Amino acid sequence: MTDADPVVEAVFDAVAATAPEIRDALPGRRVESGTENPSGETVLAGDVYADELLLEALSAVEGVGSFVSEERPEAIDVGGAVGEGAYAVAIDPLDGSSNLRSNNTMGTVVGVYDAPLPASGRDLVAAGYVLYGPITTMIVADDRGVREEVVERDGDDPGVTRSVVDDDLTLPDEPTVYGFGGRVPDWPAAFREYAREVEDELKLRYGGSMVGDVNQVVTYGGVFAYPALVDAPEGKLRLSFEANPIAYIVESMGGASSDGSGSILDVEPDGIHDRVPLHVGNEGPIDRLEAALDG
Ligand code: AHG
Ligand code: MN
Ligand code: MN
Ligand code: MN
Repeated sequence: MTDADPVVEAVFDAVAATAPEIRDALPGRRVESGTENPSGETVLAGDVYADELLLEALSAVEGVGSFVSEERPEAIDVGGAVGEGAYAVAIDPLDGSSNLRSNNTMGTVVGVYDAPLPASGRDLVAAGYVLYGPITTMIVADDRGVREEVVERDGDDPGVTRSVVDDDLTLPDEPTVYGFGGRVPDWPAAFREYAREVEDELKLRYGGSMVGDVNQVVTYGGVFAYPALVDAPEGKLRLSFEANPIAYIVESMGGASSDGSGSILDVEPDGIHDRVPLHVGNEGPIDRLEAALDG
């Protein structure tokens, strides 16, 4: 077993320490901020708060050189030459923020790259997500494998405890659940056909936040997708801070990812906000998806 990378550990210490602060700030930050982000989305006060807190926390981590966020047009230089010893951290500060109004799950997604962004997922050295559910959990994947932690507030510094509840997460062998984003009429015919087959076999688990829906697949086995849409062939999810980290995690658990033709981790982006169709889960359903789209 290789040793833990101290910078990666410090990144996830910082992310864990922000989790209770983000969670406690949400009740008062359900309103729109009045601004749009680089993806053209409405930004909630919760998105802004989480983004600012995570920038502050991660800028203080020795070995983080660049901060990329869903909510910021460009990378922020936080000191240290990325790729020459410093890492770039790509963050979705609040994933599924549209669930804030309906009080459903949300998350924070983290990708740690040893190359300046835009970069392919092959440059990831670690990835993870916090899930703000009934329990606050954090999934961390690195070259040692994938672990699940429970994050709880405590009075001492850094104000949280991280308890590893599973230090070797692997996908269940049998797929059980599925969740597909977008609307049926917006799916290309080949995906619609594939979805119809999957719907006859698996149980629907779709809650509208990628982190919550992926965590269902991580827990029970199955497939999550936000596919290409007829009017949006690149889909909705962003490569740097949504698709790449999730693909890294699921592939590290023995699962598979696809942009429709091959691993998400091989996609070479032009920009830090590039979108990509995302499909992740057990190898069987992903292989069948690629065959269906290749038809
Ligand atoms: P974010 O809140 O970070 O912008 O991400 C929202 C994404 C993702 O969490 C989820 O899978 C997808 O939007 C849901 O999209 P629909 O509302 O179209 O289902
Ligand atoms: Mn958003
Ligand atoms: Mn998101
Ligand atoms: Mn977000």
